Amino acid sequence: LSGKKVLITLGGTREAIDPVRFISNHSSGKMGMALAHASIQAGAKTTLIVGSISIGLEKRAEIIEVISAEEMYQAVMKRIESQDLFISCAAVADFRPKKVSKNKIKKNNQSMSIELIENRDILASVCQLNKKPICIGFAAETENFIENAKIKLKQKRCDAILLNDISNTEIGLNSDENELHLITKNNSYKIKQNTKQIVAEKIINKLADYFFTSS
Ligand code: C5P
Repeated sequence: LSGKKVLITLGGTREAIDPVRFISNHSSGKMGMALAHASIQAGAKTTLIVGSISIGLEKRAEIIEVISAEEMYQAVMKRIESQDLFISCAAVADFRPKKVSKNKIKKNNQSMSIELIENRDILASVCQLNKKPICIGFAAETENFIENAKIKLKQKRCDAILLNDISNTEIGLNSDENELHLITKNNSYKIKQNTKQIVAEKIINKLADYFFTSS
């Protein structure tokens, strides 16, 4: 990927409820950071848009840290035009509280509810741009996974989906190992269970061959 520019989103987003509380998820950022190492090793100028993670940062990349899905959206959109490859690895919260309380919410011995509104889909928004990079999304499925990933590929209009089978708890979210399927419009490749770093290197090699090597 020498001479190419790669943008990767990773980690979870945090959606504020009040000044001290938020809604988020268990994303560790491990898979995204492994992809960042592999992308740099492959020679790409690599930019990371980083949400909440539980691992160290890859110092050789340009790093932009964000908190919410909306901030991640803005950070991606600001930089996307100049990129060759976009890998959307972040666990973006699908919803955020409609109202963020200015003050810490006090308990009053009553039940309470929080109204949620939908966040923008960053990957789908990038895929709708006229001038867009090659776009790779992630999907986590528990059943009919190849078919569901193909549906996601079409719906989001991305170039490939990296599919996690999350019915196997030994791999994927928060673990150190992963097994993925790379699904394109016409092909499907299994990347066998291994450390996230080895899996990431295989993914980057495959993406470089598939999308950037003219034969
Ligand atoms: O639709 P679903 O959340 O399953 O799709 C997952 C893919 O979409 C991931 O690549 C994720 O990074 C991306 N996504 C996004 N913005 C959202 C939700 C998901 O970019 N608001």
